Amino acid sequence: MIADDKIAEVRERAGIVEVVSDYISLKKSGANYLGLCPFHGEKTPSFNVNPARGIFHCFGCGVGGNAISFVMKMEGLSFPEAVKLLAKRVGVVIEERLPTAAEKRRLDEKEQQLAIVALAAEYYAAMLQREQAGEPGRSYLAGRGVPGEIISPYRLGYAAEQWDGLVKYLRQKGGSLEMAERLGLIKAKSGGSGYFDLFRNRLIFTIANVHGQPIAFGGRVLDDSLPKYINSPESPLYNKSETLFGIDLARQAMREQKSVIIVEGYFDHLALYRAGIRNVVATCGTALTSGHLQVIRRYAERVYLLFDADSAGRKATFRGMELTLEEKLPCFVVDMPAGDDPDSFLASHGGGEFAALLSQARPALDYYLRELLASHETGTVTGKKGVIDKFRPMVERLGDGQERTLYLRELERVLDMEPGSLGGSAQRQSSRPAAAAVERREADPALSLLALLARYPQIASDFRAAGIEALLPQELRPMADRLLSSMESGEGADFASLLAPLGESELGRSLAGLFMDDAHLADLDPFRAMQDYRKALEKSSLQMLDAKSLRRELLKLDSDSPRYWEIMEALNNLRNRKSQLL
Ligand code: UTP
Ligand code: MN
Repeated sequence: MIADDKIAEVRERAGIVEVVSDYISLKKSGANYLGLCPFHGEKTPSFNVNPARGIFHCFGCGVGGNAISFVMKMEGLSFPEAVKLLAKRVGVVIEERLPTAAEKRRLDEKEQQLAIVALAAEYYAAMLQREQAGEPGRSYLAGRGVPGEIISPYRLGYAAEQWDGLVKYLRQKGGSLEMAERLGLIKAKSGGSGYFDLFRNRLIFTIANVHGQPIAFGGRVLDDSLPKYINSPESPLYNKSETLFGIDLARQAMREQKSVIIVEGYFDHLALYRAGIRNVVATCGTALTSGHLQVIRRYAERVYLLFDADSAGRKATFRGMELTLEEKLPCFVVDMPAGDDPDSFLASHGGGEFAALLSQARPALDYYLRELLASHETGTVTGKKGVIDKFRPMVERLGDGQERTLYLRELERVLDMEPGSLGGSAQRQSSRPAAAAVERREADPALSLLALLARYPQIASDFRAAGIEALLPQELRPMADRLLSSMESGEGADFASLLAPLGESELGRSLAGLFMDDAHLADLDPFRAMQDYRKALEKSSLQMLDAKSLRRELLKLDSDSPRYWEIMEALNNLRNRKSQLL
């Protein structure tokens, strides 16, 4: 718990340029500083830092924020952790304050929940390691050749063949059973009162958060019965689309190697760990999501997909590839012999061959193109068209640039087509990020008005008087109001927190881009510009306004009713204003 004024002090003292410069090299470029974005792979710099406004923004991948959020992303820290780290660097002494009652309740509840899952993990571990009833689990592991020293880092456990072993244990330890039910560890009996265990007669894998605290479990049957695995349901602690199995064991190695290997299963993770490969996480039955990639991005900048060599694995690979392209994370695919998974491959081929496999990983698009070529009759027009239709949308996700051109050229080459016919020529890679920003700028008068206001506080009172706020799209109004207030008060705006509610939306990114670089607003009369943008905005919003539906409503009304005259007036106004504007 850090006092708000301390946070503000850290924010003020930690200059964004100094903070970012600790990680990447920046060059001055006009009013901004420019560098290679540390959050996505790029060769031409589109990462901008604006010292006056204390914000950064990447025109390539859209990330942005202030000094604190930069350190959070870069170091993989929570907000308070980042503030503390920066405080040390800039010499602000932070005494932790006591949490408020509400904060304490929330913290306490989370602590209690974590404590209950930890109790359950302890129970399953003890069962596997010490109890008579744990024998089936021990012999299963022995049968799969898993050595004893693996048990503790993975917190492997065993759920015995009983209906209420965990229920009893939790009760005895004074844990809340309702809470345990909410966490998906036990279930309420449908008939009367009482609870029963979710996991019975299964080998238990403990799923932990990035800090290594147990938050959920996966349980495997010991024979061939189905379902092979059951997993804890989502809970207040366990968000499946953000949780990766093994991240706690992998975090350090991911940082060091700047990469991550994603596998499908619990046993795959374990097999790689045993082979000494630590930068590994497993998706464990859930599809890879962009939430997962956000977590990965905190620690790694490259992704290796190592999914099972079967049709489900191939599907997962394609999906992973699409996602990483979208998130602009460089992605490689590791190919295995058909029918293998990493666990079985390591068991039969050993670590040396596995290392060779990893070193042959191919860029995802390269892999995809080979797959497409193998599955289409490229001697025929239909086959060629099939390949192009599938491959091209993927390539387009690379944005404009060298890589895109190179892939299109490669596609032309392998399909035996005229060079340049698919756009693989140099002309297409024209629009640089800056140019894209300019286009957006001209397209949206609402955003231009906000950028104008940010640059010229002197127009604030006219801006308010003209009622421009009300013309803005709904989702921009709250931030416009805050910006307006800070401009009127003359205290300057906190741009990062203004932008925060818009998140990573298209609107948020465009506006961040405008705040970052508003050179096009230099040397103009801000009052005139405001009127021009306002007219443009009115014009575009009038075009949206549906006069047709007003007329339709009018037809149903009696000329005695007040609404009739309201609509008549509205239609008149509309006509007048349109003719004024056009
Ligand atoms: P696999 O069927 O490939 O299992 O599913 P596995 O990990 O190779 O396990 P072994 O080696 O056969 O024992 C991959 C992952 O998908 C999830 C599990 O997380 C599993 O590790 N899964 C699979 C489920 O959640 N439920 C299932 O019924 C099957
Ligand atoms: Mn498998």
